Amino acid sequence: MSLHRPLRRGLQAAAVLMLTVLFLSGCQSSPMTTIEPAGTHAERILNDLLIPVAWAALGVFVVVESILLYSVIRFRRRGDTMPVQIHGDTRIEVMWTIAPALIVLVIAVLTFRTQAVNSAMPKDALRVVATGHQWWFQFDYPQQGVNTANDMIIPVGRDVTVELKSDDVIHSFWVPRLAGKTDMIPTKTNLITFRATQPGVFRGHCAEFCGTVHAMMRFRVIALAPEEFDRWVAGERTVPVAPAGATIPAAGQPAPSDPAARGQIVFVRKGCIGCHMINGVPQAVGRTGPNLTYFGSRYTIAAGVLENTDENLKRWLHNPDEVKPGNIMAGSVKPGTLTDEEINDLVVYLRGLKVDAALPADPDPIRP
Ligand code: CUA
Repeated sequence: MSLHRPLRRGLQAAAVLMLTVLFLSGCQSSPMTTIEPAGTHAERILNDLLIPVAWAALGVFVVVESILLYSVIRFRRRGDTMPVQIHGDTRIEVMWTIAPALIVLVIAVLTFRTQAVNSAMPKDALRVVATGHQWWFQFDYPQQGVNTANDMIIPVGRDVTVELKSDDVIHSFWVPRLAGKTDMIPTKTNLITFRATQPGVFRGHCAEFCGTVHAMMRFRVIALAPEEFDRWVAGERTVPVAPAGATIPAAGQPAPSDPAARGQIVFVRKGCIGCHMINGVPQAVGRTGPNLTYFGSRYTIAAGVLENTDENLKRWLHNPDEVKPGNIMAGSVKPGTLTDEEINDLVVYLRGLKVDAALPADPDPIRP
């Protein structure tokens, strides 16, 4: 049976390929997975859309492939005579027009239904305003008077309505384990509501091409137990204690001995204050870049690009353009703008700004 052998080989090759892919995908953790939801919005997309549509697709695949294989074998070439040529069977034409139309109709109904449920906005939901910038996320909590960046802290078990805005171009808010994508559009406010069903650190990513380092526009959503969330809010609302001696010394006066105090002075003197806010530092009122009030408790540097460590912060302050090409800060901070000493002092100061709250460890820290 010479005709069957290539077929069998093809099937064997396909099976090996599929097993390899499955094996490799199982080797790595998948922080951006959509099939392990941890929030209501993502759960509905998975259970009411993705799974039914996947089964439908599998059904279509089996039917089409069966007919194909049957035809290949049943009508294979026998001898040299040309078989009778037929085309335009009205019955078949009608069937294969109606069948896909029905499938599309079912998917449309499922989609509209899921969309309707997912767009419900409970009145008592926590409000967070998320603003997209090239290339980072700003998070404001108007009810709590808290402003932060790149880490969005929420309580578990409570609906959160996020008002999505943009400061420049179109971005998209996407936390695959919690909720589907929604665009952040300049001059328009989109809303998305979801509820985390388990505590944890969930990765988010801008999902709309927004410039050269769109791929480096990331964020995290950290879901805390409600009492921990309240503690975090209280912590954020507390003005950090300034390091002793952190006022700019008069001419001829020595710099303070505390590196954190020197760091705060560098922060003011070198103009970081023009773009960044730090509560309690009166000059630091800039809104161009992320609010750095409790930078020491952030998970990452540069919106999810580097893990927040001393070494990485040094690298960033030395040459931001090398870490994240084209970012705004790289326009004013170049190698040599800050001396090694100034960088060391800034690292001690900024990394020491820790909020009084228990934040969980990141289960998927950034791999270099
Ligand atoms: Cu913002 Cu892509």
